[in-house]
Amino acid sequence: MQQLAWYVTLVVVIAIAAVFTKVAVQSGTAEDHATVQGRAYRIRAWLFWALVIGGIAIAAGTLRTLPYAAASAGGSPQVINATGHQWYWDLDQDVVTAGEPVEFRVTSADVNHGFGIYDPDLRIVAQVQAMPGYINVLRHTFERPGIYQVMCLEYCGIAHHAMIAEIEVQAP
Ligand code: CUA
Repeated sequence: MQQLAWYVTLVVVIAIAAVFTKVAVQSGTAEDHATVQGRAYRIRAWLFWALVIGGIAIAAGTLRTLPYAAASAGGSPQVINATGHQWYWDLDQDVVTAGEPVEFRVTSADVNHGFGIYDPDLRIVAQVQAMPGYINVLRHTFERPGIYQVMCLEYCGIAHHAMIAEIEVQAP
């Protein structure tokens, strides 16, 4: 995925550089703007409607699957109440079972924190904001047993980097 993102970025950067180069090369010749105005406005209108229609299509295609990981019908999820503090996580439960949904109810006692869950290979698997005055619900099903880490994803002060907690995911 990272590799794909890198190639896409490279192609976009080269395309933008090509446009800038073309503009720079042609900038010497003066031309009456009225001759290109009509065409430019047509391109702008076309681009506007392409973005509107594309945006609606993408929103309709992706929002229908929300919430992404709703708790399985019938089974009551495992619940972890999590509170962020400067600078530690307070979890009322830190052992869960793999393959069963977990519901995190996340809040903060002081400032905004970012509640990020990392798998044993330190790849992020889920995240939600920890906000004072709100309880944000995050549902996630851990497929793989192991020690997961919760790290803060939003800079929240001098010891932001020290906000690490562990969750043990046990085999069913
Ligand atoms: Cu809490 Cu950064």
